[in-house]
Amino acid sequence: MMTRISFNRGVPSVDSFPAAQIAECAAAILHVDANTVLQYGQPFGYLPLREMIAGWHGARAEEVMISNGSLQILEFLSTLFLQPDDTVFVEQPTYDRTITIFRRHKASIVGIPLQHDGPDIEFLAEQLRIVSPKFFYGIPDFQNPSGVTVSLAKREEIIRLAGEHDFWIVEDAPYRPLRYKGTDVTSMRSLQPSRVIHMSSFTKLLSPGLRVGYIVAPKHIFEALGPIVANTYVCPGLFAEGIVYEFCRRGWLAPNIEKLKNLYRPKLEATLVALQEHLPSADWVKPEGGYFVGVTLPEGTHVADLCERAPTVGLSLSDGRGFFPQGGGDRFLRLAFPALSVSEIHEGVSRLASLLSHD
Ligand SMILES: Cc1ncc(COP(=O)(O)O)c(C=O)c1O
Repeated sequence: MMTRISFNRGVPSVDSFPAAQIAECAAAILHVDANTVLQYGQPFGYLPLREMIAGWHGARAEEVMISNGSLQILEFLSTLFLQPDDTVFVEQPTYDRTITIFRRHKASIVGIPLQHDGPDIEFLAEQLRIVSPKFFYGIPDFQNPSGVTVSLAKREEIIRLAGEHDFWIVEDAPYRPLRYKGTDVTSMRSLQPSRVIHMSSFTKLLSPGLRVGYIVAPKHIFEALGPIVANTYVCPGLFAEGIVYEFCRRGWLAPNIEKLKNLYRPKLEATLVALQEHLPSADWVKPEGGYFVGVTLPEGTHVADLCERAPTVGLSLSDGRGFFPQGGGDRFLRLAFPALSVSEIHEGVSRLASLLSHD
C-alpha cells in the first residue's frame, strides 16, 4: 500500500527532539529550584528565563513576558488591543491560526498582499489613507505560510509608516533562528524597539510540547497585560520554563539550533529541487530557512479540487485559501517540509505534479 505523504503540518521532525537532555534539565531544575517551578508564580513567567531572554535582546526582564506558547500571547494581545470592529493589518497570505484569533475578537482584518520581498508597500500606504490599524501583524522571517523574508528596505518603510499613523507592529519571529543559508536581516524590533512587539518561541527550537513562547516589548504594555494574564491562568507553566532555562544556561541551545539547521537544510533544498523538476510552471519563493515553501500553482488550478483528489495519490494537502483572510488563495499551497524525509519530499512533489497533470 502507498504510504501517505503529508505536506500539511508545520511540525518539527520527531527525531529532532533532545529528549535525554530535556530529562536531564528537568531533574536539574527540580534539584535547584523545585519550590519556585512547582508553585504558582509571577504572571509573566520564570524570572531567570525572563532575564536570560532579555539579555539576548538587549532588553530588561520587565520587558519580557513568557507564556504557554506564543499563540497564547497573541490571544492576550488581542484581548488587550482589540474591540469589535477594530482593524488589524496582516500579510496576505498569513498564518491561519492568527486569522482565527483575530476573527474571534471580531476584528476587521485587512490583508496586505505579500510579494517575494515582503508586503506590497504601496497597497499598505493606500490602506492607511482609509484606516489606521491597531497593529500590523507580520512574520518577517521565513514566513508561515509563504517562506518570504521581508527585505530591510520594506522593514524600514513599515516602521516609518507605523510612526506616521501611530500603530504597533507585532513581529512574530519563531523561525528567525532557523536560517540555513544567507545572512540575517535586522529584526524589526532592533530597528525600532518602541513600536515593535517582538514574539518568539521555543516550539521550533526545542519542542512544541514544552509550550514556551515569549514577547519582548516596551514595559508599559505589561501594566495592562498583567491583569489579563493573571485572571486567565494565574501564571504560565513554570516547570517547562525552568527546563528551558536550564537547557539554555548549560549552553545547549546554540548547538541544538545548529543540529536543526543541519537536519532541515537538505529538506528545504530537496523541496526546491523537486519543485523545479516536477512543477516548473508553478511560482514559489526560495526561502533561506524556516519550515515552509509557499507555491502558487499554474493558472486554471483549483486548490480545493486538488486537496480533494490528493488522497487518491497518497498525498495530504491543506487548502491554501485558509491563509487568505480576505479571499483568494485559490491556487496557493503551503508545503511544510521538516517532518518529511528527503525521499518523501521528492516523491510527494512528484505525486503533486501527477495530480496537476490530471487537472
Ligand atoms: C508564525 C507562527 N506563530 C506562532 C506559532 C505558534 O507557536 P507556539 O507553539 O509558540 O504557540 C506558529 C506555529 O506554527 C507559527 O508558525
